[in-house]
Amino acid sequence: MKKIFIVANWKSNFTIAEAGKWFEEEASIEFFITHIMMLRQDNVTLDESDPAIKEIIVCPPFTLLTIVQNYILEKDLPFELGAQNVSPFGAGAYTGEINAKQIKDFGNYVIIGHSERRINLGESDEILEKKVKLALAEDLTPIYCVQDEKTPVPNGVKIVAYEPPTAIGTGNPDTPENAENVAKTIKDTYHDVEFVLYGGSVNSENVQGFVQMENINGVLIGGASLDPVKFAAIIKNSSVQ
Ligand code: PGA
Repeated sequence: MKKIFIVANWKSNFTIAEAGKWFEEEASIEFFITHIMMLRQDNVTLDESDPAIKEIIVCPPFTLLTIVQNYILEKDLPFELGAQNVSPFGAGAYTGEINAKQIKDFGNYVIIGHSERRINLGESDEILEKKVKLALAEDLTPIYCVQDEKTPVPNGVKIVAYEPPTAIGTGNPDTPENAENVAKTIKDTYHDVEFVLYGGSVNSENVQGFVQMENINGVLIGGASLDPVKFAAIIKNSSVQ
């Protein structure tokens, strides 16, 4: 059975009140609970033609991890939690940093190497490799973002997200065929990589084209994940035949 990861990257969005509204959108919450819960528990989908196990991972800003964790527990939602960044250092005198062990209090995943951080904060491949090592040491699973098949992937990374910068937030996604070629090259080059996700202007209309591809194991969603209705529609349309 193919495993599909659907990752919401909220980026630097939402106050506590705004995150609360996301979780109060009744129709979407009901959809998340009924459809995805059943899929999880029985390891089958409601739609017999969809042979995928879906893992839904929400990555809020650090300031919202506690409240999102509370909503997940309170509403019994079938979501995993992740962070959007991790310190390249351990615990100690590193003002402003959040380390891997602290993230592990909340969730099992962390996005590392997003192009917005590489570009805006000058994060280098060397720094990102340190982050990966520390995340793995705390049993966090990195979701390692690459811009193309030439971006180096550190050892031990199992999940890569291929996100061409020209597709991020532009409404101009890559084609599923090209994304598939890149995903295959990454898997052929880096043998630790088990799953390649696609990210960049994913919506409920184009998601199916990507997840149908043999070597694409899910999607990383920015803008559309900020609206629970759109996010639910993406999950609904991400069946694999
Ligand atoms: P987008 O962002 O869905 O808004 O294009 C994707 C990402 O940067 O993870």
